[in-house]
Amino acid sequence: MRMKKRYAKRQFRIPGPVHVPIRVWKAATKAMKYPISHRSKEFKTLLFSVTDKLKKIAQTKNDLFIFNSAGTGGMQAALSNCFQPGEKVLFLSNGFFGERFVTIGGTQRVFLDHIEHQWAAPIDLDLVKKRVESQKDLRGVVMVLNETSVAMTNDVRGVAELLNDREDILFIVDANSGMGGIDCPVDNLGIDIVMFTSQKAFMCPPGAMILTASPKVWKKVGGNWNSREHYYSFKIARDLYDCGETFGTPVLPTFFALDEATDMILDEGLDNVFQRHASVAAEMRKSLSQFKLLAAKGYESNTVTAFQWPGDPDQLEEFLTDLDEEYNLKIARGQEKMRGKIFRIGHMGDITMRDVRDIANRVKKCFNALSSK
Ligand SMILES: Cc1ncc(COP(=O)(O)O)c(C=O)c1O
Repeated sequence: MRMKKRYAKRQFRIPGPVHVPIRVWKAATKAMKYPISHRSKEFKTLLFSVTDKLKKIAQTKNDLFIFNSAGTGGMQAALSNCFQPGEKVLFLSNGFFGERFVTIGGTQRVFLDHIEHQWAAPIDLDLVKKRVESQKDLRGVVMVLNETSVAMTNDVRGVAELLNDREDILFIVDANSGMGGIDCPVDNLGIDIVMFTSQKAFMCPPGAMILTASPKVWKKVGGNWNSREHYYSFKIARDLYDCGETFGTPVLPTFFALDEATDMILDEGLDNVFQRHASVAAEMRKSLSQFKLLAAKGYESNTVTAFQWPGDPDQLEEFLTDLDEEYNLKIARGQEKMRGKIFRIGHMGDITMRDVRDIANRVKKCFNALSSK
């Protein structure tokens, strides 16, 4: 039988979905208490307000659409809207989500060009440069900003610079676990499509997938719209946005939550938010320095940290269960190839230095208790 929990405060710290602050969940419940029609003036105001604030946080003037979807839907939407079967797209992967993008590329029947790195290896810019320069028929480059599975922030700027003068290539970035916590200035980087979700650094319940599309996207697909796409069609989304509506019924509680959460982020100030995430991440690494980091030096994520597990994999499962059931702390195991090898702590959104010290303290106590069993 499990012991009683030693800590009253729940620390829910997986790398998404994340802990939702009270202000945000109260806003979400408004949708149930005072329901509004999604084809109304009230919704139009809400949609425009949320969209404008999300654009500020993504630092873009591009079109921005909000779909009811998980993050994976955004990956599919980017590829299905932009490319015809057979068009060549270069995928850069160094973890679970980069590889998922390749799988989705396969279902979209694009011509897959893949620079597959080992998990947690930095993206090799020399290789990318050679590949981009030697292939005049390349139509897209796809990568992940913050590879959640290995807790690494990839060099999006480095890749962006290689694509500067390539009008013929669309640059697509999955910023799911980065946007809102890590500086990702979409227009400055020349990202044509970026996608992210409500349930990561935006501190909201799941449900909303957000995606931006640059004028270059419209130029490429304008006269040759991919008729295979319907639910995620950017064209339908844009036509309806102009009328203040979404295509399907919008996930209203998450819209209200996003309205509040984006206020919180903008009130704190974007630079302050990014700096807080950087400080919190540094403190997490320092406080748990007895464990080896997985991320390569210089690529450590500010929203999630992965530590290498020093014992055997079964013991790691016991550790995670004890943390959850006795220490009231929920963190994540490694995915797929990293299962049994690492544990990951999310620190995005609503998190302070005090939380980090508390989390690190619980991790150390639990580890020591397990080691002395
Ligand atoms: C970087 C990244 N991309 C994509 C996804 C997939 O998102 P979802 O699980 O919402 O489909 C995740 C989920 O954690 C992620 O971290």
